[in-house]
Amino acid sequence: PAPFRVAVAGLGTVGAATVQLLADNAGLIAARAGRPVEVVAVSARDHNRPRPCDLTGIAWFGDATEMAARAECDAVVELIGGSEGVARAVTEAAIKAGRPVVSANKALFAHHGWTLAQAAEAAGVPLAFEAAVAGGIPILKALREGLAANALDSVYGLLNGTCNYILSTMRDSGRDFADVLAEAQSLGYAEADPSFDVDGVDAAHKLAILTSLAFGTQVNLDAVHVEGIREITALDIAFAEELGYRIKLLGLASATEAGIEQRVHPTMIPADAPLAGVDGVFNAVVAEGDAVGRVVLEGPGAGAGPTASAVVADLIDLAAGRTAPPFGLPAAHLRPLDALPVERRRGS
Ligand code: HSE
Repeated sequence: PAPFRVAVAGLGTVGAATVQLLADNAGLIAARAGRPVEVVAVSARDHNRPRPCDLTGIAWFGDATEMAARAECDAVVELIGGSEGVARAVTEAAIKAGRPVVSANKALFAHHGWTLAQAAEAAGVPLAFEAAVAGGIPILKALREGLAANALDSVYGLLNGTCNYILSTMRDSGRDFADVLAEAQSLGYAEADPSFDVDGVDAAHKLAILTSLAFGTQVNLDAVHVEGIREITALDIAFAEELGYRIKLLGLASATEAGIEQRVHPTMIPADAPLAGVDGVFNAVVAEGDAVGRVVLEGPGAGAGPTASAVVADLIDLAAGRTAPPFGLPAAHLRPLDALPVERRRGS
């Protein structure tokens, strides 16, 4: 069968890892997709920088938007990041050109998810962004497919690997915030602007996307209450520990009397609760459904390999012809989040 041809926009940590993962696991990926999945084009500003991936025989574009519009390919992977600028232009150009888009861009889909889903649907173009939420954890697929039979009460968890790494390392080592943040940056976990991590914005992006999938609502980032971890000191962590608690940055969306509530803030979690033991760069997401009860998914939430794992999973789905509405429902069926009537279920 003909290869599924991929153009990768952005060759940072995740882009290089995606190119390399497609090469390293080419055999099993081809078997699972029913055809080879090959990178045919890449774009990045600097052609000559050494990268941990082999680019032999792959076309080079200096302009990502031009690549998205013109490269001979079957899908465009957007790994540039940011809610505006080039990342948005690449995504819109690919949709306009009829090319499916795979993205790890939580900021873009938190800000413009519903609009992009509408545009993609109108153009008959699949969109997929499993890598945007909780890195390597297949939570979007789980919500969209595995838990599709359930009305969900809540979805919550540890959605930022950098914050979880900082808080658990501060606890274990007594080191201070700035020192551990610098380490998280050097390990490739943090955002280009790490204030997105430590101020809770990145977790809010991911939560807004999760809420849409969990509750069938239009993504509404403005409705997320956000507080970060900048003010947390090693002493706070030590006191919490003494009282039998861990401090974690939690993102939570739940159905309440007043509608869907979304919030991100540092939370004291009892040391014996399941999320309390999830440390380091790991994320965990809990979904509570009316039929299934509580489901917990845990795994690496950031970093090159885990994020590439989710990007390539989306590519395999596309290559195999498996597509789904990115937010679980056709865009026109997603309700405005504010207008959502509360459906009381169990016991009411
Ligand atoms: N900066 C993000 C994090 C990367 O630390 O979770 C993964 O989205």
